[in-house]
Amino acid sequence: MENAPIGIFDSGVGGLTVARAVLDLLPKESIIYIGDTAHSPYGPKPLATVRSLAIDVMDQLVDQGVKMLVIACNSASAAVLRDARERYTIGRGLPIVEVVLPAARRAVAASRTGRIGVIGTQATVDSRAYDDALAVAPGIELFSQACPDFVELVEQGVTAGPKVLDVARRYLEPLIELDVDTLILGCTHYPLLAGVISYVMGDEVTLVSSADETARDVYRTLVAQDLLRGDDAPPPQHRFVSTGDEAVFSSLARRFLGPEVDQVEHGIASGTVTEGAR
Ligand code: DGL
Repeated sequence: MENAPIGIFDSGVGGLTVARAVLDLLPKESIIYIGDTAHSPYGPKPLATVRSLAIDVMDQLVDQGVKMLVIACNSASAAVLRDARERYTIGRGLPIVEVVLPAARRAVAASRTGRIGVIGTQATVDSRAYDDALAVAPGIELFSQACPDFVELVEQGVTAGPKVLDVARRYLEPLIELDVDTLILGCTHYPLLAGVISYVMGDEVTLVSSADETARDVYRTLVAQDLLRGDDAPPPQHRFVSTGDEAVFSSLARRFLGPEVDQVEHGIASGTVTEGAR
């Protein structure tokens, strides 16, 4: 089992920031990455729709024989985490790491004042998943802000310059007013905006990337469950699957992850979502 790949999924290319962080910490591991680009973006969709899409993709990864699942998408983590643990961890003994809890834990450790901000998609903010994750932490106040235009800007490659600066100021000013000292980047795409977000928030605000924290959790989980690939394992092999247009995925993927993405396969998009819900 330890030589099996890690299954990572996201609504599209954004989760490749998590895959990048995982490969940086665990270069001997193989991954299968599914980007559900046929249904992307998840962020504006109702939570029930995101839940059913996410389960379909995770079922496909489990059928491929992965040794663990990583929900690299914040919107999907927020929508499906509880169901996923029941279905795969309790049901099949597969460990699952998602992006919300690791980032919430790091934010609590980093904050000096207990005033924490989180930015994410509308689905993530509506789910209140970060509020739930932080509910038991004493002395913490959480302030959430949806930043729907950020995803599109990142996918257009607009991560610096006046346009993104204007949008960032509009979204982040309320959090500056609220005097947060720590800000969770609660969306796969936002690590690529760390420059402009840090510039607007100021140096004294600590940014927490859910990608980095999740990768550390993947590392911890593999060690704890004795699932690390051995030193004599064959070289790792990675597979990248897109349920939508492979060419678009491929060109964006190289920006998000790098040269490891050499070939993109076409995956089957689930048919469980009706046109009206898309
Ligand atoms: N991957 C999504 C997330 O982290 C962002 C893109 C989308 O809305 O699908 O929430």
